Amino acid sequence: MTTFTVISEKASEDLAKKLSKKIRAKYIKSELTVFPDGESKITISSKPKKGSIIIVQSTFPPVDSNLIRALTLISKAKQYSPNVIAVIPYLGYARQDQEFLPGEIITIKVIANLFKASGASKIIVVDIHSKIALNQFKITSKNVSAVPNLVNYFKKLQLKEPLVVSPDLGGASRAKEFAKHFGTKYITLKKQRDRKTGKVLIKSSDLKEVKGRDLVLVDDMISTGGSIIKAAQFLKKQKCKRVFVACTHALLMNNAEKKIRKAGVSQIISANTIPGNTALVDVSGIIAKAIV
Ligand code: R5P
Repeated sequence: MTTFTVISEKASEDLAKKLSKKIRAKYIKSELTVFPDGESKITISSKPKKGSIIIVQSTFPPVDSNLIRALTLISKAKQYSPNVIAVIPYLGYARQDQEFLPGEIITIKVIANLFKASGASKIIVVDIHSKIALNQFKITSKNVSAVPNLVNYFKKLQLKEPLVVSPDLGGASRAKEFAKHFGTKYITLKKQRDRKTGKVLIKSSDLKEVKGRDLVLVDDMISTGGSIIKAAQFLKKQKCKRVFVACTHALLMNNAEKKIRKAGVSQIISANTIPGNTALVDVSGIIAKAIV
């Protein structure tokens, strides 16, 4: 039987502790010092056990700092074990998986190479923005879905004739998976995003089927909230009942939570891949399953 040690830094401490309990692993915390110029210095608090080492570190803001912290922890773990598993619950840069406009860089390819070069033998991520991004990893990679866990939360709510809604075509398969577990139907809105300004427009025509029903808007991530706000405003105009949001990674930048609530959303539920007051769904169990 493999012995595991889990190491994390502050960003994912709670999730890492939950994971270590689930897989009966030793948990090692680390101490972070940030120098006045922004450099991160991490010291692990004790020696890992002989066996595999799991580094847990989400890369939410400050994205680049958290990324460097993940990479340096991996390189430290590699000194103790040939088998280092990087658990990156929220992996930033996955949206930069293609050259959408001339001159753009496929940054996720660079990030994937860095994980390998730092010493990770495997990477586990939760609801990565795009499967294309995952293909850039030249080490074993696994994407686990938080959707069944999110659905379990929604099953406890008393929703009226619930209908699942994807804010865009890209999220249709996620909404389909959510609807399957939830035992409901799903619909997909037509979203248009200006690649230069980031502005979002909903181009769908009127939808009679949402009238009087509770809706669950499903997305992989909320960053500025632009997509969810436009979708919620559109759905409210269609005279739906309440709008709920289910997402895996709630980044909620620039006061997004307040703006989303103002757009008429009753509640935002997210996973604990990113800590915060909407992070009510624990994903340590699904990560544990991907490890053992
Ligand atoms: C887009 O394809 C993604 O699935 C999300 O809808 C998007 O990244 C969310 O960003 P924002 O909250 O800034 O609209």
